[in-house]
Amino acid sequence: MQKFVSLILFLPLSLIAAPTTFSKDVAPVLYQRCVTCHRPNNIAPMSLIDYKSARPWAKSIRESVLKRKMPPWFADPRFGHFSNDARLSEKEIELIKSWVDGGSPEGDPKDLPPVPNFADGWQIGKPDIVIDIGEDHKVLPGEDSYDHFIVETHFKEGKWIRAAEIKPGNRRVVHHVHVLLVQDDLGKMEVASTRNMPSLQQFLIKEAKLTRVRPDAPVVNDACDPNAPNLPFLHGFQEGGLAAFLPGRPPDLFPDGTAKWIPAGAKLEFVIHYAKIPGQVQTDRTSVGLYLAAEPPKIPLRRMDLRNFFFQIPAGAPSHEVKRCYTFEKDTLLLSFTPHMHYRGKDITYDLVHANGTRETLLAVPHYDFNWQLVYRLRDPVRVEKGATLVVSAHYDNSPNNRANPDPAKTIRWGDKSEEEMMTSWIEFLEPSPASIAQTGRR
Ligand code: HEC
Repeated sequence: MQKFVSLILFLPLSLIAAPTTFSKDVAPVLYQRCVTCHRPNNIAPMSLIDYKSARPWAKSIRESVLKRKMPPWFADPRFGHFSNDARLSEKEIELIKSWVDGGSPEGDPKDLPPVPNFADGWQIGKPDIVIDIGEDHKVLPGEDSYDHFIVETHFKEGKWIRAAEIKPGNRRVVHHVHVLLVQDDLGKMEVASTRNMPSLQQFLIKEAKLTRVRPDAPVVNDACDPNAPNLPFLHGFQEGGLAAFLPGRPPDLFPDGTAKWIPAGAKLEFVIHYAKIPGQVQTDRTSVGLYLAAEPPKIPLRRMDLRNFFFQIPAGAPSHEVKRCYTFEKDTLLLSFTPHMHYRGKDITYDLVHANGTRETLLAVPHYDFNWQLVYRLRDPVRVEKGATLVVSAHYDNSPNNRANPDPAKTIRWGDKSEEEMMTSWIEFLEPSPASIAQTGRR
């Protein structure tokens, strides 16, 4: 009998797994999956770096991961594989759930993994070169603005960069930032598919620091229609910028073996969207960190920006379609997609129609959310042959059912303001030689 009792006492102890703790089990997941946003002075409302800050959020963390609201990720899992896929694995979700269900214990702080180091606020380490907007810029309360700052790089020779990270100077007002090479410098890169296009300016209205399309500009919702008029940027593409800072977007870290070129004497242009906040004047000094490539890449990395400036979304329309196509003039490898719309953006799909007529979906975002401006980086570059067409189809919900809709009674056209709309896609790509395509391409 004595023996039997001790056996019972002994068994459960050895069979019950150790409780799931913050330090040992949960912190590694949070550090890997959450703290790029959930750390002090970043975009998320609370830090998840230490137990004390994370503990009060335990129930809310459980719910947000079970419902897959966090981390933010919007690609339809039926299409494509993405290297920055933010979705947690079932195992990670189970871990968080069992931690919270077990009373969210801290465990032994000695078990904590090393806290990720965000050196001076840089996510990907200390940059080789930092360039800022050149002034302490005053942001007045109460209105949105787009400000442009052109600054010298003072580069005596051209440089290849393998990454660029934008650091907003004042997160309270900096909504998003683009860093572009000034157009004159682009010309030297043999690019500019946009060179022969008619000027867009005649179709635009500029008011203070904001631009929008004139209400009486021609309307083209379907730029893929072969009979669509030849208006600026409905065909070809605009050469994309160097780097971007957008809510939820990781820094521009280019794939291994690729790099972007900044010519000698180049100037950078910062385009900063300052969001309206009430209260006193704010100051901002945003900068970009550049990370040099060890050697020139075999193939330079480029970005094509596809836009339709000429759509018109009727008042109240629940699912208004706007399209844009691009037919490739060279064999190309596609690397990533960044869709951009505003509050009325509902969904967006990227289909590739091959020269032989077969069609495949490369990315579908069925529930677009303006609060998140994510980049979808293809795990394997998609090889596109000359003559294939990329079809971008977006839908806008201008009805009262769209909770984010600022005004369903308005007809909407292109405009800088978040209350107007955009239809933009940035697509990173390589134009390699046929031989290197055979080595790196997907098929
Ligand atoms: C890309 C940035 C980002 C990542 C990555 C991210 N979050 Fe968030 N999270 C936010 C932001 C911004 C908010 C506030 C806005 C919102 O709720 O949408 C938020 C909100 C939350 C909330 C809700 C807070 C509330 O007010 O109720 C929880 C809980 C949460 N996050 C947990 C997590 C967890 C757990 C992870 C990792 C598994 C994670 N988040 C990853 C940016 C992020």
